[in-house]
Amino acid sequence: MGNNLFDMTGKVAVVTGAGANGGVGHAIALALAHYGADIAVADIDDQGAATTAEEVKALGRNVLVSHCDISKPQEVENLFKEVDRHFGRVDILVNVPFAFPSRVRPHELALEDWHKTFQVSLTGYFLCAQQAIRRMLAQGSGGCILNIGSIAGASALGRGNFPYSCAKAGVHQMTRELAVEYAQQGIRVNAILPCQILTPGLKNQFKADPELERSMMPRMLAGIPLGRLLEAEDFIGPAVFLCSDASRAVTGVLLPVDGGNLAMNAGGSFSWYRA
Ligand SMILES: NC(=O)c1ccc[n+]([C@@H]2O[C@H](COP(=O)([O-])OP(=O)(O)OC[C@H]3O[C@@H](n4cnc5c(N)ncnc54)[C@H](O)[C@@H]3O)[C@@H](O)[C@H]2O)c1
Repeated sequence: MGNNLFDMTGKVAVVTGAGANGGVGHAIALALAHYGADIAVADIDDQGAATTAEEVKALGRNVLVSHCDISKPQEVENLFKEVDRHFGRVDILVNVPFAFPSRVRPHELALEDWHKTFQVSLTGYFLCAQQAIRRMLAQGSGGCILNIGSIAGASALGRGNFPYSCAKAGVHQMTRELAVEYAQQGIRVNAILPCQILTPGLKNQFKADPELERSMMPRMLAGIPLGRLLEAEDFIGPAVFLCSDASRAVTGVLLPVDGGNLAMNAGGSFSWYRA
């Protein structure tokens, strides 16, 4: 092991949902590149993916851009075939995309929206993991998978998140199962569980509807002891740690990056020190 535990020089990372939109996938792709990894940028947003690729290139790394809807098995297979041709190996997979077709109560949920959510947020992660693991096993030098879960998969939100939360809970269990299945082959599988992130999308919603911000913000902040929504950059440190040798003995871990949300009892109150 070299001096820099975080060095990923010579590693190839496939990052799905890495399109440049100020979200978590974008931040993680650039972070891995910053620490030396070559990157396959996969997304359904071609323009966003092309922008991320330019940024990765500017860091001096080798990059591949691929249009891939992770819910479609053929597109996932094509992505990994392109990675084979371009890089000839896969060391790291980061699964980021999610689907949230509608915010309705469970008794009103259309079956189609249930399926759509699972197809991206759970089946898509499995399809990518399966392709990556096959290659990691053949390479014989281990590997690393990082899934993005959610606090919604670890506790109940009760506000129209039902299929999303169930799919994220599946991502958490997939993380543990794959970690234990492939530990002997040196393939580590971990997950990060974010709380609410102030993404450019949410910022725009708030800008368009200040009333939404006024009503939602206090409720969201009440659940985050650190007292702020997160930003995409908050995921850089945890992702670099979990994808590098710095975490070489860490596998099967669900790491909340949530400002203390899951640590706090649901009945927790800030009144005594916010007064
Ligand atoms: N935003 C939040 O408040 C929040 C909270 C908890 C967990 N999370 C989780 O964090 C992760 C990142 O969230 P984010 O809001 O930063 O999003 P993001 O902007 O990083 O990621 C979404 C990206 O995935 C792409 N994408 C969507 N569907 C796809 C598909 N089928 N195939 C390939 N790419 C696809 C999008 O084009 C986009 O570039 C998600 O897994 C999300 O569930 C987000």
